[in-house]
Amino acid sequence: MNLFDQLTLGRTPLDNRVVMAPLTRLRAGEHGVPDDLLVEHYAQRAGMGLIITEGTYPFAEGRTWMGQPGIETAEQIAGWARVADAVHAAGGRIAVQIMHGGRIGHPSITGTGRVVSASALAAPGEVRTADGGKAEHPVAHELTEAEIPDVVAGFVAAARNAIEAGLDAVELHGANGYLLHQFLSPASNHRTDGYGGSPERRARIVIEVVSAVAEAIGADRTGIRLSPQHDIQGAVETDADETAATYAAVAEGLAPLGLAFVDVLQADLRGELVQRIRSSIGAPLIGNSGFSAQTTREEASALVEEGVVDAVAVGRAAIANPDLVARWRADAQENAPEPATFYAPDARGYTDYPTLAAVGA
Ligand SMILES: Cc1cc2nc3c(=O)[nH]c(=O)nc-3n(C[C@H](O)[C@H](O)[C@H](O)COP(=O)(O)O)c2cc1C
Repeated sequence: MNLFDQLTLGRTPLDNRVVMAPLTRLRAGEHGVPDDLLVEHYAQRAGMGLIITEGTYPFAEGRTWMGQPGIETAEQIAGWARVADAVHAAGGRIAVQIMHGGRIGHPSITGTGRVVSASALAAPGEVRTADGGKAEHPVAHELTEAEIPDVVAGFVAAARNAIEAGLDAVELHGANGYLLHQFLSPASNHRTDGYGGSPERRARIVIEVVSAVAEAIGADRTGIRLSPQHDIQGAVETDADETAATYAAVAEGLAPLGLAFVDVLQADLRGELVQRIRSSIGAPLIGNSGFSAQTTREEASALVEEGVVDAVAVGRAAIANPDLVARWRADAQENAPEPATFYAPDARGYTDYPTLAAVGA
C-alpha cells in the first residue's frame, strides 16, 4: 500500500491516506460559530484524503476554550454546513471531532458554573478563563450515574447535527485527557460505581457513547480517537497491564459495531498495544505518533507501506501547508509551521500559508 492509494472508511471514500489530524485553532469567536475564516481554512485543505476538524463541543458544558467551535446551536450547524459544502465543492471529505472537555475547562466558559468529570479532581496546571486570563483548573463535579445518560444524549445530538450539516462522519474524542479519556485513566477516574474501579467499568462510558452515536448516524459514519499512554492533562496511564486491559475492553466493546475507523495517537504505532486495539476493534486504523516529532512524509509513507496503519493523521504539516498532499506527491519543499499563531485569533497563520505554486511565483 502507498500513502496516495485510495481508502474507504465506512461510508466515506478517501482519495488518499493523508488525513488532516484534529487541530484546535480557536478562530470560531465568542459563540463558537464557524464563519468565513473556517470555511476558507478547511476548503484550502480539501486535498487531504479526509479532514478531521478541530475538537468541537457537543454542548456548552463540554466547552473548553473561547474561540472553540460548537455543534449545538442552529447558527453553529449552519456554519458547519457552509464548511462542509466548501470542502465538498473542492473535492474533499470532512469529519467533525466531537470533544467534551470534561474537567479541562473553566466555569466561566462552560456557562453552567461547573466543569464535570469522572471524579471530583482537578487537572494539573492552568486553564484559560472567558476573559482571557488564567486560573488553576477547578475541581470537577463528579458526574452521577443519573447524569451520564444526558452526556451520552448530548454526544448523540451533536452527531445528528453533524450529519444534518452535511459532514461525512464524526470522530468522538476519547483521547488527550478530555472527558472520555478522564474516565479511561485510573489517575482521573477514582469511581467505584458502574463507571470505575475496573478496566471494563472505566471503558463503559466510551462504549455507551460510541454505541449510541453509531446507532443514531450509522457505525459507518462513526470513528473514535484514542491516545493510550499519551500521559497528558492528568489522564496518566502508567501501569502497562492496566492500560492494556482498559483498551482491550474498549476495543472488544466497540468491535461488534463495525466502526468507520479508529484514530490512535501513540508514540509506538508498531507496538503491541496499538496493534492489539486495531485487530480487536476490527476497523481501519488512522495513526499518529504524537507531538515529540512532527509527522513527515517519510514517516507517513513508511507507516502505510509497512501496513502499520491504514492512514496517517498529520497535524502540524497540515497547518502550514494547505496543499500538503500535492507537495508530498511531488516530494516538494514545505512551509514550516509557526507555533506562535497556532491559537491566534485571525487569518494570520491560519489561511495565509502559501501554496507551492504561490511560493514559486
Ligand atoms: C495546534 C494543535 C492543536 C491540536 N488540537 C487537537 C484537537 O483539537 N484534538 C485532538 O485530538 N488533537 C489535537 N492536536 C493533536 C494533533 O491532532 C496531532 O496528534 C499532533 O499535532 C501530532 O501530530 P503532528 O506531529 O503531525 O503534528 C493538536 C495539535 C496541535 C499542534
